[in-house]
Amino acid sequence: MPPAATPAFHPVLRMLHWSMAALIVSMLFIGVGMVSTAGPAYSWLLSLHRPLGVAILALALVRLPVRVWSSTPALPANLPRWQARAARGSHLLLYAGMIVMPLIGWAMVSAAGKPVKLAEGIVLPAIAPHDLTLYAMLREAHGILAYALFALILAHLAAALMHGLVRRDGVLRSMLTGNA
Ligand code: HEM
Ligand code: HEM
Repeated sequence: MPPAATPAFHPVLRMLHWSMAALIVSMLFIGVGMVSTAGPAYSWLLSLHRPLGVAILALALVRLPVRVWSSTPALPANLPRWQARAARGSHLLLYAGMIVMPLIGWAMVSAAGKPVKLAEGIVLPAIAPHDLTLYAMLREAHGILAYALFALILAHLAAALMHGLVRRDGVLRSMLTGNA
């Protein structure tokens, strides 16, 4: 059983939260930039997109156990029940997004029959069979889920600002400085 709640997020969780937030938001813009160009920037952006996406997956796999086994601050007791539920549900979906998005990207490149190249000489094994119908399905899912994740992140940002600027209840501080 995880230990009892404390006033702040574990420093490792805070460090991972902010570095992964920057990476994930960058990836959304790199992805959109990539599919909006047919010029030479395309392959440069794609060569950035693949290793960053896999790095997000690796960091999420470090973050999950730290999250499960460290104590986390309790939400303010006077927070309406629907907001507490929305917070828990959206955090679960954010975790799902940071794991599912890179896996779909990796599987999609595998299904296209292309090498999942991270850097010169570093190529990941295929995790899906070479199948163009599967590629088309995964490509569609990668696009739709990317926009859903973007919408969720915007809602998450709005909630964080509501806590920090309107309610001033220590929730934003617990992720920023570690003091509730
Ligand atoms: C958190 C991780 C990731 C995010 C947020 C993300 C986001 C995106 C976005 C927003 C797009 C554009 C979608 C569209 O407008 O239809 C995209 C396309 C793409 N992504 Fe990702 N992606 C991630 C991980 C990955 C990974 C790990 C790979 C491969 C190893 C990958 C490969 C691709 C490819 C090949 C495309 C389409 C390029 C094209 O059709 O021209 N993505 N991604
Ligand atoms: C854009 C700026 C962001 C701000 C200002 C922000 C702010 C916060 C704050 C204040 C908390 C604590 C909330 C609570 O205890 O209920 C939190 C938690 C969390 N945030 Fe963010 N966040 C941002 C971006 C992101 C992004 C991009 C992701 C991932 C896609 C993310 C994933 C999470 C998760 C999963 C939690 C729950 C705590 C945990 O289990 O690690 N955040 N965020």
